[in-house]
Amino acid sequence: MARDDPFSEKLRVPEALTFDDVLLRPQESRVEPDDADMTTRVSRNVTLNIPVLSAAMDTVTEAELAIEMARQGGLGVLHRNMDVEEMAEQIEAVKRADELIIRDVVTADPDQTVREVDAMMDRAGVSGAPVVDDDDTVLGIISGTDIRPYLQVGEHDEVREAMTDEVVTAAEDVTAREALELMYEHKIERVPIVDDDDRLTGLITMAGVLARREYDNAARDDDGALVAGAAVGPFETDRARAADDAGADVLFIDCAHAHNLDVIDSARDIKSEVDADVVVGNVGTSEAAEAIVDFADGIKVGIGPGSICTTRVVSGSGMPQITAVAEVADVAVAHDVPVIADGGIRYSGDAIKAIAAGADAVMLGSYFAGTDEAPGRVITMNGKRYKQYRGMGSVGAMNDGGGERYLKDEPDEDEFVPEGVEAAKPYKGSLASELHQLVGGMQSGMGYVGAETIPAFKERSEFVRVSSAGQTESHAHDVVITDEAPNYSPEN
Ligand code: XMP
Repeated sequence: MARDDPFSEKLRVPEALTFDDVLLRPQESRVEPDDADMTTRVSRNVTLNIPVLSAAMDTVTEAELAIEMARQGGLGVLHRNMDVEEMAEQIEAVKRADELIIRDVVTADPDQTVREVDAMMDRAGVSGAPVVDDDDTVLGIISGTDIRPYLQVGEHDEVREAMTDEVVTAAEDVTAREALELMYEHKIERVPIVDDDDRLTGLITMAGVLARREYDNAARDDDGALVAGAAVGPFETDRARAADDAGADVLFIDCAHAHNLDVIDSARDIKSEVDADVVVGNVGTSEAAEAIVDFADGIKVGIGPGSICTTRVVSGSGMPQITAVAEVADVAVAHDVPVIADGGIRYSGDAIKAIAAGADAVMLGSYFAGTDEAPGRVITMNGKRYKQYRGMGSVGAMNDGGGERYLKDEPDEDEFVPEGVEAAKPYKGSLASELHQLVGGMQSGMGYVGAETIPAFKERSEFVRVSSAGQTESHAHDVVITDEAPNYSPEN
């Protein structure tokens, strides 16, 4: 069959831009960067206090990093290179991390000896325990202070002798402030939570309330628990159900090419089965966005921009990220669906450019892979410290059972066609300090544009196109860097 258009027509190609091709045009401003409000929506129903997500990669996001991300106001997206049970446990660990009311309460039996309870509390790492009878009715509370006088002479006495039996309790709806007031008034460190029949349902501790106050910018759900995200494969309905049951706030359909029609059908089915919001990705064009925008709670953009990605060179396909984000945002904005720019962000300036192009939040892998909270240990090479960072489509990740998003069927190792590499990132220290640099830089960008909120910034910001001479001028140049800045390395 003959083509209507000559092949040479294909060479009249549109231009697609990425981070280094553009800069934000500075504008009149009264906005101090510190005053810029970073609140944003990551999906239809989930709000974050900073517009930042950590990538669903096995060298980036497990429970430890996800907990810290949420404490700092963002969202960690757990990777799916683990079995479903393990993922459910990790989601539960995030949701439980800073809970006001502890549900897994260590309790004592009135008939136990003081010595037994002392050993039990030691093992559980708690300094006090409510004493309950067989049907969980609270009879008293026992703490180190009650136990101490018995240890030498009365350690075989029963707990009922040693416990404090006038217990101050509170109901389920108690607030953190009310609980603190109770503890202050009665000079106690823990308050059992009881139902109408005085049965124990939880416990609030002074240490727990104070820890929560330390993270006053944390991203929490309506019950005050940290927010949790989890990646699920486009056809992994069981994983989606389990992650939803475990309490994930947002599920991310984790796919290299979400404009695949089978993927869209399955993602739509998953969406109909879960309570959590469902973000669908990755896409890179307006047509793909059109195909999912009616059911997706968020759209994730990125075909090949990632630091460890080789998709574009292996497949010859992809879309430079600034253009990809803008195309998708044009569609998403009309449906009020948030957009997440995923991959390729090396500097805080890239992150805020992605927002200017229409994203509501950004997802990063390499930026966080070198932090303490990322999985894996620190390795030393040539006297410098690093942590491992690998693409989920790399041979190593596929060998460990991952990389399904890049696999055809289930080939042997020598049949893998990888779309990512295995690498290392310089060791960076705490996630909190990396986020401080990232978000601080983004706020600076908002100051230069004169916008105090993310929606205002998206509206007001303008780009200029940068020549390659302009790019050179943007970086430190004509000097030898003597001391590394915390937010800049020419190698990035
Ligand atoms: P950065 O640039 O932050 O990118 O390191 C992280 C994002 O890269 C994607 N990703 C991959 N893309 N092959 C790819 O083409 C891979 O092996 C791979 N692994 C991760 C993913 O979207 C991640 O969030």
